[in-house]
Amino acid sequence: MSDFVTAFAPASIGNVGVGFDMLGLALAGVGDRVVARRTDGDRVTIAEVRGIDGEVHPFLSTNADENTASIAAQALLDAHGGDGSVELKVHKGVPLQSGMGSSAASAVAAVVATNALLDSPLEVEALLPFAVEGEKFASGSLHMDNVAPSLLGGLILCPEVLLPDVVRLPIPDGVSAVLLHPEDLHVDTAQARRSLAKGISMQQWLEQQGLLAAFVSACASGDIELMSKTLRDVIIEPQRSASVVCFDAVTAAATKAGALGSSLSGSGPSIFALCRDEDARNAASAMEQACRVQGIGCQSWVSPMNAPGAHIET
Ligand code: HSE
Repeated sequence: MSDFVTAFAPASIGNVGVGFDMLGLALAGVGDRVVARRTDGDRVTIAEVRGIDGEVHPFLSTNADENTASIAAQALLDAHGGDGSVELKVHKGVPLQSGMGSSAASAVAAVVATNALLDSPLEVEALLPFAVEGEKFASGSLHMDNVAPSLLGGLILCPEVLLPDVVRLPIPDGVSAVLLHPEDLHVDTAQARRSLAKGISMQQWLEQQGLLAAFVSACASGDIELMSKTLRDVIIEPQRSASVVCFDAVTAAATKAGALGSSLSGSGPSIFALCRDEDARNAASAMEQACRVQGIGCQSWVSPMNAPGAHIET
């Protein structure tokens, strides 16, 4: 085995609209890379953090106590490490504060790369609790709806009560995800979580439970009409969408282009839509156009719903 490896971990769509903190979808075509190298030290170190432009990242810390990648890798080594440690190079591909699971992608890529350097690497599913440690540092709370799909790929149901287990959901044929990132807007997830109402009504609970149960059932049976009816968030989206100025215009454009449904990706500002495969490209263009009309620069991705999870690159 070589002394260093590179791992890629994809971006992800947290919540998938209907399942706050417990449903997540991997997104193909965008992610973070972490290069891990064996060292003789006793703690994980970070040699560099580079941004999307390849330059030294202006904000992210190389202090190993303050970076999701090193925190996650250290948690893995504390449990299974043996002698020596690792040095990490983090290459960001996922924009920060985008609602695309940026901190999760770094944490996941770090544990996957570090794991590959262990004398007895763990099964990929066993890495989830360690990746979650990095995410906890970034968002101030334990939620796995970005870490789990980034690690495992596809559509994952990951309620905290099941940790360390998660449920891989069946993917209906013929459905793609569109992700629109409004580049000029930023949402701090920890702050967005602190701002949420502390309680909900019984009526809201009943509605959202019903929607989530029916959405999961629709995925299992491949019932695209039922997916469309149930891809809704009556609790979190109404509290967050007003701060994303392009939200109404972009979701209206997605609906007009035939999307099955749309909502915030994670805590936003990114907005995702699920679409029939044949509508996805048009929906992405329409969503981009609607965003730009608001004077907001943006980028979009179209991804199959069964996007692969993290992996080692050769
Ligand atoms: N479930 C998390 C939230 C995802 O909505 O706060 C954050 O990306």
